[in-house]
Amino acid sequence: MATWAGTEVSALNPLRVLWLTLAATFLLTLLLQLVPPGLLPGCAFFQDLIRYGKTKEGAPPRPAACRAFDVPKRYFSHFYIISVLWNGFLLWSLTHSLFMGAPFPNWLHGLLRILGTAQFRGGELALSAFLVLVFLWLHSLRRLFECFYVSVFSNAVIHVVQYCFGLVYYILVGLTVLSQVPMDGRNGVVIHCNHRIPFGDWFEYVSSPNYLAELMIYISMAVTFGFYNLTWWLVVTYVFFSQALSAFLSHKFYRSKFISYPKHRKAFLPFLF
Ligand SMILES: NC(=O)c1ccc[n+]([C@@H]2O[C@H](COP(=O)([O-])OP(=O)(O)OC[C@H]3O[C@@H](n4cnc5c(N)ncnc54)[C@H](OP(=O)(O)O)[C@@H]3O)[C@@H](O)[C@H]2O)c1
Repeated sequence: MATWAGTEVSALNPLRVLWLTLAATFLLTLLLQLVPPGLLPGCAFFQDLIRYGKTKEGAPPRPAACRAFDVPKRYFSHFYIISVLWNGFLLWSLTHSLFMGAPFPNWLHGLLRILGTAQFRGGELALSAFLVLVFLWLHSLRRLFECFYVSVFSNAVIHVVQYCFGLVYYILVGLTVLSQVPMDGRNGVVIHCNHRIPFGDWFEYVSSPNYLAELMIYISMAVTFGFYNLTWWLVVTYVFFSQALSAFLSHKFYRSKFISYPKHRKAFLPFLF
């Protein structure tokens, strides 16, 4: 029977603790959103931290102090610039290491040891990590292209904490992939910047198919890792809850804004949630 890639499943290293904590935080936040509003004291700062873009409109009025930390949502492109550069560098380092036998730079090797490198047996996982890093890089490049040429950003904003998190997120994801290596068209016309009810394809089933697709991308990476990779499943768990939270808030936003919003449509998972 396949084991979790020969790893000590119980071993907690800093990366696993980080992804577990993030997953638990987003699960808790999602559960808090399911509690009827009257039962919990409202906290504008908390709502400001978990909502971004259009879903900030559905939140209680935002104090001026919160608005002071607004950053334009179009800065999302910065995350993907960082990711393309950083993960491109990691891919370059891994390619040199795998195919030319060149060691990782000392500082990168040291960093990976601190974060917790995989204790795998078998070299095939190095190739899996290589493939996942290629996917991650291509995914970031696609998102960057989308930000520049497809997405039409309104005046939506994000909190500066969310912005900083986005900046380090793809750095951490890339390092997590590398830590698994054993150590030995914006061509159309812009009509308006309002948020409308989307229709067609997966939108008929869920409010945010883009968040569902994001989850599926990370699951496909788990399959590339040979399925039994605990560290990557922790990343997937975090992505699941963070995207579920965003989808849930989007869904609430649509339902509050549009009386005619399709009743059968779920937030994130077709027919389920
Ligand atoms: N892995 C992660 O941790 C993570 C975290 C966050 C996001 N992401 C990914 O990044 C991608 C973008 O995320 P997002 O939160 O920006 O998605 P989003 O809210 O759906 O926005 C995507 C684009 O569509 C526009 N838009 C959204 N709803 C619209 C509507 N009803 N009518 C017209 N235009 C609408 C947005 O404009 P406005 O910006 O003006 O609303 C933006 O240009 C997603 O695929 C998501 O999965 C990943």
